[in-house]
Amino acid sequence: MQYRIQTANWRDLGALRTLEQECFPIDAWPLFDLIGVLSFPSVVRLKAVLGDKLIGFIAGDRRSSQNLAWIATIGVRPAYQRQGIASALLKACEAQLQVARVRLSVRVDNLPAIRLYQVHGYQRVGYWPEYYQDKSDAIVFEKSMETAL
Ligand SMILES: CC(C)(COP(=O)(O)OP(=O)(O)OC[C@H]1O[C@@H](n2cnc3c(N)ncnc32)[C@H](O)[C@@H]1OP(=O)(O)O)[C@@H](O)C(=O)NCCC(=O)NCCS
Repeated sequence: MQYRIQTANWRDLGALRTLEQECFPIDAWPLFDLIGVLSFPSVVRLKAVLGDKLIGFIAGDRRSSQNLAWIATIGVRPAYQRQGIASALLKACEAQLQVARVRLSVRVDNLPAIRLYQVHGYQRVGYWPEYYQDKSDAIVFEKSMETAL
């Protein structure tokens, strides 16, 4: 599949909203947060594009004073999953973030995402009980990028 990874911008707002609703049926981000992720200067935002379709998205939020970044969201439209797109987005985002550590939180029952992060060298560093709105717990993962920098 000949998809490309590109920097996303505010023109992707509509397609990103559709992707979010498909990928996160319970807790898709509100419009305000999507606008933020497409505009804040601290955010690395990348999209996977097939033809003119947005099929995947990742945002990494840099906290430069801590030499740390958080992956704020990652999603691949269901029809395009399990073809390496999230892996490609994650690698590209990590490379652009240029920080020593990358962190993220994930629902305890989100096994596809947990597997993805483990495959990419993320290790569990924390547990946040009842973190999500529906009281689901979160696992915090971290990857040290020191060797990659
Ligand atoms: C999690 C998600 C981003 C993975 O996207 P993807 O493009 O399918 O992932 P990849 O194809 O790059 O998968 C890489 C590896 O992750 C693991 N993985 C991905 N999906 C998996 C699944 N459904 N079951 C088990 N392992 C899975 C596998 O090890 C996979 O490698 P393999 O296919 O060679 O076995 C996608 O399932 C998604 O968008 N889910 C909904 C949104 C979401 O939960 N985002 C994460 C929030 S923290």
